[in-house]
Amino acid sequence: MATKSVHLPVLQSGLGKTLRRDNWWVGPLTTGTILVAFIVYATFRGFENANYEWGPYLSPMYSPLIDTSFAKNWPIPVSGAMLILGGPASFRLTCYYYRKAYYRAFAMDPPGCAVGERNAHKYNGETKLFIFQNLHRFTLYVALAFLVFLWHDAITGLIGWKDGVHLATGTLVITMNATLLSLYTFSCHALRHLVGGNVNSYSTAFMGGLRFKLWKIVSKLNEKHMLFAWMSLFGVGLTDFYVRCVCTHAITDFRIF
Ligand code: FES
Repeated sequence: MATKSVHLPVLQSGLGKTLRRDNWWVGPLTTGTILVAFIVYATFRGFENANYEWGPYLSPMYSPLIDTSFAKNWPIPVSGAMLILGGPASFRLTCYYYRKAYYRAFAMDPPGCAVGERNAHKYNGETKLFIFQNLHRFTLYVALAFLVFLWHDAITGLIGWKDGVHLATGTLVITMNATLLSLYTFSCHALRHLVGGNVNSYSTAFMGGLRFKLWKIVSKLNEKHMLFAWMSLFGVGLTDFYVRCVCTHAITDFRIF
């Protein structure tokens, strides 16, 4: 049977040069726009240092809540969001998926598959300036600790009302955020290696059966890691925005029971 030949685009030298005929630039442009928008919004919220707490609700950008009264006479403004930012930011910055996304969007090195890059002969891998990328496995532990705080916030959004237990729109929003961040964290490549890697034989490994089951679950989630990366980023932004809107009375929190 005759096989159909496939012609792949050949890499052209020079930034942006390519034989690709599709709109390859849409992906990096969208990625860059969303990331810049999120960074601008998060920076604004970090400096605002207000409207992050309402009733039992706490914005994820300020969780865990830190009392910054010790810094009130400091020459520079300090908010709780600024103090905790390093935890989640380092996890996302070193995420294997986000690396690809922002290398393409910002460094354009390369901007896409089979698209000419800036310094085609100067790739140093994750060394020198990017050596911090190797810390991802450690930032994973930080992210897991943050999940404890976020689930605490979700439960508080349900049972932390002064007059008992209530389910409201905010409770659902905060719970959705904790769920999305859990999916993002539990689909992490480093976690997949942690639970199932470094094993030659599951049947002879310590807790091999359990590790194999966990590895299969994390592997399944890992297939959707990119999706969870974006959904959880939107989740953090929208949850914070919701809490801010309730704090400023721009919207009213709707109580279901
Ligand atoms: S690889 Fe993306 S969070 Fe670990």
